[in-house]
Amino acid sequence: MKNFNLTMKDYEKVFLADESKHILDSMNLNSINKAPNGCYGGGCGVCKIKISSGEFKKLSMSRKYISKEEEDAGFVLACRVFPKSNIEFEFIGKIKCKTNKEKKYGFV
Ligand code: FES
Repeated sequence: MKNFNLTMKDYEKVFLADESKHILDSMNLNSINKAPNGCYGGGCGVCKIKISSGEFKKLSMSRKYISKEEEDAGFVLACRVFPKSNIEFEFIGKIKCKTNKEKKYGFV
């Protein structure tokens, strides 16, 4: 099993993630407390991120939340993506819009 560094660019946080866990799981396991959890199945969109660098494996995602154009530009759902290298990403989903909750969730 391999571990990689995942960097949340907008919060300047780096955490370790292993390739067998999707990014949302890894956030929860790395004391990024209570990252926005929804369906954990690619169907609610709360965990939307934009990956700017790195390799990853992705499972199917609802087109309701990730259009083909977005997918081509690096947008994915964190609960459907597994790291294959070090990755840099920004959080796009629900939590980014709720500044008051950022401290509660441990992002700042
Ligand atoms: S938790 Fe629902 S899409 Fe990721």
